Amino acid sequence: MSGGVLTLAVRVASRRAEAQGICSFELVDVAGGVLPAFSAGAHIDVHLPNGMVRPYSLFNSPSERGRYMICVLNEPGSRGGSRAMHEQVAEGELLRIGPPRNLFALQPQAPHSLLVAGGIGVTPILSMAEQLAAGGASFAMHYAVRSRARAALLPRIEASPFASRVRLHCDDGPAAQRLDIERLLADAPDGTHLYFCGPAGFMQAIRGTAERLGWPAARVHSESFSAVVAGRDADEAFEVLLSRSGRTIRVERDCSVTQALAAAGVDLPTSCEQGVCGTCLVRVLEGTPDHRDLYLTPAEQARNDQFMPCCSRALTPRLVIEL
Ligand code: FES
Repeated sequence: MSGGVLTLAVRVASRRAEAQGICSFELVDVAGGVLPAFSAGAHIDVHLPNGMVRPYSLFNSPSERGRYMICVLNEPGSRGGSRAMHEQVAEGELLRIGPPRNLFALQPQAPHSLLVAGGIGVTPILSMAEQLAAGGASFAMHYAVRSRARAALLPRIEASPFASRVRLHCDDGPAAQRLDIERLLADAPDGTHLYFCGPAGFMQAIRGTAERLGWPAARVHSESFSAVVAGRDADEAFEVLLSRSGRTIRVERDCSVTQALAAAGVDLPTSCEQGVCGTCLVRVLEGTPDHRDLYLTPAEQARNDQFMPCCSRALTPRLVIEL
């Protein structure tokens, strides 16, 4: 995946309102061909008409080779990506997308899978349910929403062959049906693998409960596309040394590497600035990056020989990068 960023040309075959503030988009190959295969939990990077690049999880069944289905929540607080999808992408529109990538894959050996979705986080979780059901695997799915009106893809779920394995939890409904994370995790059968996706507070609550109940990290899997670029209180300043020019540039604690480089007159191509598109990839020759991107796989990150300067930082006082 490292190196140049390959894109595919797709057409919006259909779009429809799925729930309050949520639209789905059906993307097909412009020439009507098959699309690259994907597995449940995969996402694509969509290159938006306004120049932004945003990742969206595929929610359809991986067995479908002729289309990719994504759902987009129009978030008032977004930096413009979801708004551009809602306001500028109509049926018939041509888009460029990155090929599917999966950083949230199902573990095939799991004796049972517990899938938990919060709001728009239902998209990768639904694809997982499709794949597990198709393979005859043991699983249960829980879908937590603020209200039924905000529950995307509900008709699709309710009409699916696995509808009886899905429970909907509405925040505005009776207390007895609300999501009880503690009980859900405590009652899971031995060896269960947990998969969850949703808003930040939901993610924290599930991760914290799993840790407290002693779930092994190897059986806890999650994906979040939010707050990737957010600074952390413990962030410290560090230096980057540019191997070709020999220049050293200081990156302050509240500044990204790309911002520090730009301020020093060193322009690096960027696109998403969220660590998802791969445009800014740079080789690391010395030092240890603090990877915060969603582009490199865990194995690629572990090699520490490349990083995404739009969002990642350093664990060592200095990084030598190939620039
Ligand atoms: Fe997209 Fe850095 S600009 S990963």
